[in-house]
Amino acid sequence: MKAELQSAQGRVLTHGLRLVAGLTVALGIGCRGQKFDQPPIHLNPNMDQQWRVDMQEPNPHYTDERGMRMPPAGTVVAGSLEATDAAHTHLHEGLLDGRYTDTLPAGMTLDATFMARGKERFGIYCTPCHNETGRGDGVVVQRGYAPPQSFMEPRLRAFPLGRIVNVLKHGKANMPSYADQVPVQDRWAIASYVRVLQVAQSTPQDLFAAAGGK
Ligand code: HEC
Repeated sequence: MKAELQSAQGRVLTHGLRLVAGLTVALGIGCRGQKFDQPPIHLNPNMDQQWRVDMQEPNPHYTDERGMRMPPAGTVVAGSLEATDAAHTHLHEGLLDGRYTDTLPAGMTLDATFMARGKERFGIYCTPCHNETGRGDGVVVQRGYAPPQSFMEPRLRAFPLGRIVNVLKHGKANMPSYADQVPVQDRWAIASYVRVLQVAQSTPQDLFAAAGGK
């Protein structure tokens, strides 16, 4: 009698354990692949989920409900108040005596390191649109961005380095400014590399015309 009772208890225990194990497995994998509207249960929330305003979203905190705030009047970007002396205009605007120049600013040397840097930076910042050849059919353009002119166009072949540097600072029509991403020394290195692309892909006639010949 005692033995029977013990084995009955044993069976209940075994079944109980199986049930618990089964439920655990079911809970663990049962919800996989299903979609939920609510975030998962988060026992220790820390500060993981916080209210925030995404781009273009309204922000009811302000009376105009603008989520993307304008800078307060009179705000100046750090470092944007520029000097106007000749050396600075040369370095940043590419202008010497009021004309675009091919002369590198003081402290820069046209050597292998400089060209390698220009090539590398061109690869990072310019190829998406201008492509590695400089012909203006980069991947972004292949997906619908306004195509730039090829650097091989006679008008662009005739650009002094300073003019390219100037475009990098100010942008041009559909091309944004790269002043925030590319430090000024690199802009000259990139401009020199653009010249390399132009010379590498030219006929003697192109070079003659770019030098002002007809
Ligand atoms: C997002 C695409 C894009 C990127 C990236 C880009 N450009 Fe451009 N670029 C353009 C477009 C578009 C134009 C044509 C602008 C126009 O309509 O006159 C252009 C024009 C130019 C011109 C000719 C400007 C003129 O006066 O006609 C130069 C030079 C130039 N880019 C150099 C560069 C260099 C160097 C880089 C890399 C730092 C670069 N661009 C990166 C899109 C781009």
